[in-house]
Amino acid sequence: MDSYHFQQFDMTLKKICCIGAGYVGGPTCAVIALKCPGVTVTVVDLSEERIKQWNSEKLPIFEPGLTEVVEQCRGKNLFFSTDVIKGIQEAELIFICVNTPTKTFGVGKYIESAARMIADTAQSSKIVVEKSTVPVKAAESITNILKANTKPGVKYQVLSNPEFLAEGTAIKDLTSPDRVLIGGEETAEGQEAVGALCWIYKHWVPPEKIITMNTWSSELSKLAANAFLAQRISSINAMSAICEMTGADVTEVAHAVGTDSRIGNKFLRASVGFGGLSGFGGSCFQKDVLNLVYLCECLNLPEVAEYWQQVINLNDYQRRRFSNRIIEALFNTVTNKKIAIMGFAFKKDTGDTRESPAIYISKYLMDEGAHLLKELVTICHDPYQAAEGCHAFVICTEWDEFTSIDYKRIYNSMLKPAFLFDGRLIVDHKKLMEIGFNVVAIGKRLTRPNVHRPLAAA
Ligand code: NAI
Repeated sequence: MDSYHFQQFDMTLKKICCIGAGYVGGPTCAVIALKCPGVTVTVVDLSEERIKQWNSEKLPIFEPGLTEVVEQCRGKNLFFSTDVIKGIQEAELIFICVNTPTKTFGVGKYIESAARMIADTAQSSKIVVEKSTVPVKAAESITNILKANTKPGVKYQVLSNPEFLAEGTAIKDLTSPDRVLIGGEETAEGQEAVGALCWIYKHWVPPEKIITMNTWSSELSKLAANAFLAQRISSINAMSAICEMTGADVTEVAHAVGTDSRIGNKFLRASVGFGGLSGFGGSCFQKDVLNLVYLCECLNLPEVAEYWQQVINLNDYQRRRFSNRIIEALFNTVTNKKIAIMGFAFKKDTGDTRESPAIYISKYLMDEGAHLLKELVTICHDPYQAAEGCHAFVICTEWDEFTSIDYKRIYNSMLKPAFLFDGRLIVDHKKLMEIGFNVVAIGKRLTRPNVHRPLAAA
C-alpha cells in the first residue's frame, strides 16, 4: 500500500513515533510495524531500563505472541529508544501512550508532560494521537498546550484513538480488533488527520471496523466501554453474594442469564473482583470508572457519579468479603497461620500485578496476622512447595496451571483440616471435596460431611 499523502500538511506518512513503551505502546507499535512494513515505528520512553529490555531477548512485558512479532520487526522498521526528542522530531504522527493514573484534577501529569515535550521539540507539523485512556476533553487540553507553544510553520492535529486491547490477549486484540475508534475535529484538517490514521489501520483492519467520530465521543466511548464491562463484573459478583446466602450457584445463574441473547454470556464469571488496572479480559477498570465518576462530579451530575461509584464499591466489597470468608472458615483467626496465595497477577497470561485483587486479599489477611506464601511472585515458584504445611490454599488468579495441579499431593502436605478457597471458580470443587479439602468458592454454598461448620455462612 502506498503511503498517505497529506494535502494540508504536505507530507507523506512514513515515520511514526510512540511516547510510552508500556503494555499498550510496545505491543501496539509492534503490530503496526508488522502490518505496515513501509512505515518506520519508533517507540520512545524515559525509562532506560524499559527500553533496554525492549531491545533485549527478554521483553519487559509478558504477552503471548509478542516476542515473535517484535523479533520479526525490531531493527527493520521497529525501534525502541530513549531519545524522545529525536523520535518526536522525525515523526509525522505521534502516539501518546503514557500511563494515566487515576487523577482528581487536570489532564494527567504524564500526558501533559508528553504534550509539552512535543510542543518544545517539534520543528514540523504533527498529528498527535492520544491512545492513552484520558478524561473527556483531554484532546482539547493537549491542543491548547500545543497551540500555546507553536513555532512558526508548525501545525498540529490532535486525534483520539483509544486502545481496547486486553492484557493477556493483546496481540490477538490488536491484529483482529472488534473495532478501531478514531475521533477528530470536524474540520477539513481534522478529517485529513483522521484519514491518515485510518490509512495506517486499513493495512490490516477491515474498513467497516474502523469507526470515526468526534473527539469527545471517542474519548467518552473508551470510558463508557470499560465502565460497562466493570459493571457486568460487579453485577455478577453482587449475585454471588446472594448465591452464597441462599444456596443458589452463581455459575448456574450466570449460565441462565447469559443464554439470553440480549445479555450475552461474556464477562459473567464471578470472581474476587477486577484489578485496578484490569479485570477479566478488560483493562484499567478501577482507574477508568473512577475517572468517569470524577468527570460526572465535575459536570455536576452527582446521581450519575454515584451510580458508577457503586461499581467500584461493590468490587471493594467483593475482595473484602472473600477475605472475611477465609478468616471465618479458618476458625475466625488467621494469626500466625500459613496461607498460600496462588497467583498474584490480576488475571492469567499477564505479568501485570498492578492493583491486583491478590494484593488486597493478601493485605487484609496480613493485617489479621497471617503468614503468606505468594506463588508466582518472589517467594515461591512451585505450588507444591507453597502448600507445604499451610492451613489454606487460596486461588486468586485463574492461571491454567492451577487446574492441573496434583491436588491430592497438595492436600497431603497441608495441615488438617485443609482449606481451599477458589476465588476464580476454576477448580473442580466436588473432586477436591472428595480428596478431603474443605472448599470455599465464590458464589456457591459447598458443604461436606464432617465439616466443622457451614462454610458458606460468611
Ligand atoms: P505503562 O505504565 O505500562 O506504560 C507507560 C509508559 O510511559 C512507561 O514506560 C513510562 O515510563 C512512559 N512515560 C510516561 N511519561 C513519559 C514521557 N513524558 N515520555 C516518555 N515516556 C513516558 O502504561 P500502559 O499500561 O501501557 O497504559 C498506557 C495507557 O493506555 C493508559 O492510559 C492506560 O489507561 C491505557 N490502556 C491500558 C491498557 C492495558 O491493558 N494496560 C489497555 C487499554 C488502554
